[in-house]
Amino acid sequence: MVWRSYGVRLPTSVIYGVGASAAVGSEVRGLGKRALLVSDSVMVKLGYVDIIKKRIEAEGLEVIVYPKVDTEPMVAHVEEGLELYKSWECDFLVGLGGGSPIDVAKAIGILVTNGGTITDYMGLNKVRNPIPPVVAIPTTSGTGSEVTKNTIITDTVKDVKMLISSVLIVPKVAIDDPELTLTMPPSLTAATGLDAFTHALEAYISKKAHPFTDVLARSAISRIAKYIRRAWAVPDDIEARSEMMLAALEAGIAFSNSSVTIVHGMSRPIGALFHVPHGISNAVLLPVCMEFCMIGSLEKFADIARLMGEPVEGLPLWKAAERAVEAIRRLCEDLKIPSITGLGIDREKFIEKIPKMAEDALASGSPANAPRVVTKEDIIELYKRAL
Ligand SMILES: NC(=O)c1ccc[n+]([C@@H]2O[C@H](COP(=O)([O-])OP(=O)(O)OC[C@H]3O[C@@H](n4cnc5c(N)ncnc54)[C@H](O)[C@@H]3O)[C@@H](O)[C@H]2O)c1
Ligand SMILES: [Fe+2]
Repeated sequence: MVWRSYGVRLPTSVIYGVGASAAVGSEVRGLGKRALLVSDSVMVKLGYVDIIKKRIEAEGLEVIVYPKVDTEPMVAHVEEGLELYKSWECDFLVGLGGGSPIDVAKAIGILVTNGGTITDYMGLNKVRNPIPPVVAIPTTSGTGSEVTKNTIITDTVKDVKMLISSVLIVPKVAIDDPELTLTMPPSLTAATGLDAFTHALEAYISKKAHPFTDVLARSAISRIAKYIRRAWAVPDDIEARSEMMLAALEAGIAFSNSSVTIVHGMSRPIGALFHVPHGISNAVLLPVCMEFCMIGSLEKFADIARLMGEPVEGLPLWKAAERAVEAIRRLCEDLKIPSITGLGIDREKFIEKIPKMAEDALASGSPANAPRVVTKEDIIELYKRAL
């Protein structure tokens, strides 16, 4: 029985599986005449930009490349890309790479049809007009940005990672081809795979979870628990890569239609102030935050333990739930996720910034979706525990 109504927002087309990127030509037909392809210099070096560009050009369309999203996205990337989009009179966008180029493609789209600067759109549902079509082609199995209603852009003036969320920015087409992820080194596999894992866990335990998102979140949790170590240890294992990409896709749809919670809320300020990659700033917080949340959702945590392959039959509920937290901690250790100080962040500097980070985390709204009440004091304590 579903006692209230929920929304499920998805791209028009989701193409996934080994070789899926060959479909980009047929998928862009009818979207426009000239694409701005947003990417980064690694994608150029790996030859992915050239492959995708040629496939679009084979349809008789033109492609302008903006390959400069070499860090996590900042306001300047969006402005530079927008200039190029306008001066070449492009009419649709392609995001190719990790979450960073895809997020920039979405953000450029916001400004094309809504005007202003990207900082005007921070928060929920500030976007008024639909954006031009976005074709999103991820090369990491992590963010799920190819199917989500979010883009995350750093405001370098205020040192804030802005969460911009609107159903109007869900890409039109998502193409998830695991062959494009075979080149990820182990550290990137760990960071992005644990980002996807965090999406799945948070979507599942969120107060906004509902039956549709539960199915996808649960599937992603078990898939990632089963395959992430293999993808990390054997980078060219196509089966593990394929399962990880499918899991990231499931987790992306799940959290975009449910929500993230305290881990993402607390990790964005670390990323903004200390320039830690998104997946790592989540992973350093994941075990302590899950331990904290457990008491508010014992049944779901016991289920997470089961999904992760933990033997929980016959255990009291509380013990079974604890097994989930233990399994999550073990996974982070196996993938060599350090503590916050282990990342090379100065302990004193971090402690000094905790009050601002706690305020920014709460202001993002994400911690309010956790399965227990979260206060500023709780967040301060959790940052300290993750040191
Ligand atoms: N929009 C959303 O819903 C959403 C959700 C989560 C995170 N994010 C955002 O996404 C960004 C992080 O994205 P990400 O973790 O995918 O990383 P990324 O896009 O920042 O890329 C990290 C590095 O990995 C390299 N790389 C990417 N694919 C590769 C491949 N196949 N082989 C070798 N190298 C490769 C890139 O060139 C880059 O140097 C952050 O800004 C984060 O805030 C967005
Ligand atoms: Fe994330």
